[in-house]
Amino acid sequence: MLALEVKDLVKFYGELKALDSVSFQVENGEIFGLLGPNGAGKTTLMEIIAGIRNPTSGTIKVFGLDALKDRKEVSKLIGFNPQETMLYDDLTGMENLEFTASLYNMDRSTFKSRLDDLADLMDVKGIIKKRVGKLSGGQKRRIGIIASIIHEPRLLILDEPTVGLDPEARRDFWRIIWKLRDSGSTILLSTHYMEEADELCDRVAIMEGGRIIAIGRPDDLKRKYGGRAKILIYPKLKLLSDTDRLLRNLGYSTKRIVDSLVIEEDEPSELVPHLISEMSERGMRPERVEIRTPTLEDVFLNLTGKPLSEVM
Ligand SMILES: Nc1ncnc2c1ncn2[C@@H]1O[C@H](COP(=O)(O)OP(=O)(O)OP(=O)(O)O)[C@@H](O)[C@H]1O
Ligand SMILES: [Mg+2]
Repeated sequence: MLALEVKDLVKFYGELKALDSVSFQVENGEIFGLLGPNGAGKTTLMEIIAGIRNPTSGTIKVFGLDALKDRKEVSKLIGFNPQETMLYDDLTGMENLEFTASLYNMDRSTFKSRLDDLADLMDVKGIIKKRVGKLSGGQKRRIGIIASIIHEPRLLILDEPTVGLDPEARRDFWRIIWKLRDSGSTILLSTHYMEEADELCDRVAIMEGGRIIAIGRPDDLKRKYGGRAKILIYPKLKLLSDTDRLLRNLGYSTKRIVDSLVIEEDEPSELVPHLISEMSERGMRPERVEIRTPTLEDVFLNLTGKPLSEVM
């Protein structure tokens, strides 16, 4: 069953085409990532799906319902956590969540039992009675996520949920996402961290300039667009030229990058031991050898000609 079906979505802000015929589908139970640099159109796309912004044209179905027509029904199925979490700093986490629940007309006992589960899941029991203004970024994020799922949405939309979190907090957060998925949610999230898209998401759409330029499972994208693996050989500096000559004589095409020699290869783990023994036999044993397999960063670079991290 499809959780989400977006077809030919176009959004103009005046003259600016923020979304250019975006189409994709998300399966029930998937963690689906939108990866792209600033201005790619991620927030615009998520806000339109969440029903808080109108598209210029196109269609959206959420669990088979027309999201642009059956707004009220669809809003019950969706939980949206915006890029800037909207919580009242002067209220405690608990008070914020009570307020959110009142917007959904939840009765007290449903709220309490739901909150009990979620507070456990999101590990906020120790902080929920503190004023939100005194919490850390990651703690606020967790309260914000609870606010967006307190009504048990089937599709959870998270706009850059881990921005500003340190690597450890980010990993904690991934575990929460996996738990939410295991409890039956479908998750659409955006990120501009390529390793997050790679490790957290089942499938990823890479966006640039309002378009989806590639879509698929991270491993498939890397295989298809990531290019070959690179072997980086770091000879002793004074042997750099000699080693380069040797490798070329052995039939490898090398590229010199600063003080390393780079060979591109499909099966690096088989070649590396062989290369090392060839070099060692001639007294040119390298200081260090690294294998670098393609990342989503390479995918983005190969598809756009621009590095993802530099354009952000
Ligand atoms: N309310 C708005 N009015 C006019 N232009 C807008 C508006 N919101 C976004 N844009 C423009 O639309 C484009 C897409 O913006 P959007 O915020 O959707 O990108 P994004 O991928 O979420 O970027 P980021 O990673 O910075 O959050 C950008 O060029 C942006 O300047
Ligand atoms: Mg955004």
